[in-house]
Amino acid sequence: MLNKENSELAINGGNPISNAKILIHKPYMDEDDFDSVDKVTRSTFVSGDGPECRIFEKGLAEYLDVKHVLFVNSATSALELAFRVKSFPAGSEVIVPNFTYTSTAIAALYNNLNVVLADVYPDNGSLDVSKLKSYITKKTVAIAPVDYGGIPAEMDEIMNIANQHGLYVVHDTAQSIGSEYKGKKTGCQGHVSTFSFHGTKNLTTGEGGAFVTNDDSIADRVKILREKGTDKYSFLTDNKDRGYYEYVDIGNSYVQSNINGALGISQLNKLDWMNNERRKIAEFYKNELSGIKEIDFMRITEGSNHNWHLFGVLVLLEDRYWIMDALRAEGVLANVHYTPLHRNKYYSCLGEDRDFPGSIEFFNRLLRLPIYPSLSSVDAQRVTQAIAKVFL
Ligand SMILES: Cc1ncc(COP(=O)(O)O)c(C=O)c1O
Repeated sequence: MLNKENSELAINGGNPISNAKILIHKPYMDEDDFDSVDKVTRSTFVSGDGPECRIFEKGLAEYLDVKHVLFVNSATSALELAFRVKSFPAGSEVIVPNFTYTSTAIAALYNNLNVVLADVYPDNGSLDVSKLKSYITKKTVAIAPVDYGGIPAEMDEIMNIANQHGLYVVHDTAQSIGSEYKGKKTGCQGHVSTFSFHGTKNLTTGEGGAFVTNDDSIADRVKILREKGTDKYSFLTDNKDRGYYEYVDIGNSYVQSNINGALGISQLNKLDWMNNERRKIAEFYKNELSGIKEIDFMRITEGSNHNWHLFGVLVLLEDRYWIMDALRAEGVLANVHYTPLHRNKYYSCLGEDRDFPGSIEFFNRLLRLPIYPSLSSVDAQRVTQAIAKVFL
């Protein structure tokens, strides 16, 4: 039971559980990361699509068990390329979950496609498959499911519907590196998958992303599009030492520096370890908090393994902001996440609250707690102590 008047709470002037603020996320970096960046910087090969980038791409393709990984400067760029490569007619429709980051929608809009927002499940923010068919029209060309928080979307059901209607699936796996769906890593379920290596993600290259596909012709064209419309990729691969690569298409500059590639390699080497550290914290939270009846946990998709990118709890909607403020006063930097797209100025023409009951309920209840490999067990304990204090 919440007792908002409790004078022992830091929000009411009591002593906080932690004097130092416990951050909500923090990238994990160790000596290997510092060494690999140092080495590549000293080598002075710092420009794009260098040897370290190629090694990282190969290692990641093996890890994900996919044919093609193309390292790019962000997941936003990977998403944009995912639509660019198909050259769909302007005005075609892409179904995007209402509860996502702006990049999923921007990618379609940037390619002159229209976004149709779809509702999500109220207990985990994942695309609500039972409603999916209702958004399909004659103009629909693609679906862009999102693995919110690292929890895989229901990809078998989504691919079945997509195949029945001949739709292209861009799987926004920005948050789910290392998660598994039905025994396979996320990244091979859709036609294209797009990972993020932004500083908040489980594997980071500072900024960065990966364009992932098993389709050779899609990969071949994206190699050109991400390198300013040139055939430099194959020029380098074939070790041509005469002449010059050619300008064969239009494109943009989405390649990554060799420095980011080096960081990708050292991060990938410890990805499973880092995800396991997150898992231990998640299990600790679940054990400690499961007795608090006002708290629910996010539902994990059946048959999947979670990389614990985020740890979210679902609380009473009318008290969510008070709980967040009370935890922050205790020194725990809890946070809310994604405002549903239609509630943002730019997307307000795409629907109203009543169109997305699942998304609104999820948004109203979700509170994120700190989770990252370097979170000490003492701090994880402080997080659960702060929650217990607030819910006493
Ligand atoms: C679901 C989703 N898609 C795309 C992105 C964009 O990633 P990036 O910052 O690498 O462009 C994010 C970023 O957090 C995200 O959460």
